[in-house]
Amino acid sequence: MKDAVKEYYGKVLQGTKDLKTDACCTDTEIPGFIKQGLCRIHAEVAGRYYGCGLVMPELLQGMRILDLGCGAGRDCFLLSQLVGEEGYVLGVDMTDEQLAVANRHIDYHTKQFGFSRPNVEFRKGYIEQLNELGLADNSFDIIISNCVINLSPDKEAVLREAYRILKPGGELYFSDVYSDRRISKELAADPVLFGECLSGALYWNDFHNLAKQVGFLDPRLVEDRPLTIGNDELAKRIDYIHFFSATYRLFKLPGLEPHCEDYGQAVIYKGTIPHYERQLQFDKQNLIQAGTTFPVSGNTFRMLSETRFAAHFEFFGADDTHYGIFKGKGAAIPFDKRASNDKSGGACC
Ligand SMILES: C[S@@+](CC[C@H](N)C(=O)[O-])C[C@H]1O[C@@H](n2cnc3c(N)ncnc32)[C@H](O)[C@@H]1O
Repeated sequence: MKDAVKEYYGKVLQGTKDLKTDACCTDTEIPGFIKQGLCRIHAEVAGRYYGCGLVMPELLQGMRILDLGCGAGRDCFLLSQLVGEEGYVLGVDMTDEQLAVANRHIDYHTKQFGFSRPNVEFRKGYIEQLNELGLADNSFDIIISNCVINLSPDKEAVLREAYRILKPGGELYFSDVYSDRRISKELAADPVLFGECLSGALYWNDFHNLAKQVGFLDPRLVEDRPLTIGNDELAKRIDYIHFFSATYRLFKLPGLEPHCEDYGQAVIYKGTIPHYERQLQFDKQNLIQAGTTFPVSGNTFRMLSETRFAAHFEFFGADDTHYGIFKGKGAAIPFDKRASNDKSGGACC
């Protein structure tokens, strides 16, 4: 399947417009400062974007970031601006044609952003075998990925490698496609359905279990949307399966609990994260307004106090008294539009 995927992204598709479905598209509300960053990206790079979500978490200045399956590099060049000249972005992909586009435009973007030297590199490799690229344990602050892990034949290896390479307190922040049930082998073997990021999708509960198995103990859903197929012939074969594009944030924090527990802890957001001064949508269930006392579970407390978010919060309480399960958060089924059969969600790209 890896060769079929290389063929698909290297030779069959010449740009976003060639996609046969709307799965590899981004239909997310984009903040103004990110739109400005996108305007500075070279048209050839932007025209070969096949992502399905916005993978730009907060607080990127100075960070070391790895992009798994970077393609032609759109997200890397966007991140390059957001990490600044002191930060570093590495894109890894297995497809020569995609990497050739990315490499061709490094100098253009360095000049465009006013940097004295490039802060982006691209390397050829498999995201299941990052050790072969010599990427050390605990060496990146953030790992992103956009519509790639569904294409991997060994998703556990990808998540395991991401966990190994992240620094303690680092996060894997990524968008991908999920399904509401396990997909048959027959559909998974179809090169177009697979290449279009559909039939390799993980059933969401298998993803949650896999993430926990490798050490990402409390996967947090940031946003999701039901996918539209946008191609009648393909839709006929798979329209009994509901697909979703979803963005998750997974922290490398050993010892997180399997459920959100209540220790009577709370935080106050200082309103100091650039571009998010009034409120921070930390995940789908935690919209944190600046300046108010916000009760949090023990796990959320650790995700804020033991990561790059710590300086932006005041913290109240310890974990020495337990008050039971943290109520009202952490639904078992992550996608609230799961039952929706609405195919009119609109195409994008
Ligand atoms: C849907 S495209 C997304 C590309 C890019 N993230 C973007 O948003 O435009 C999938 C990319 O993942 C790469 N890819 C798929 N499986 C891979 C693997 N196992 N190792 C490395 N790259 C892989 C493909 O070569 C392709 O460029």
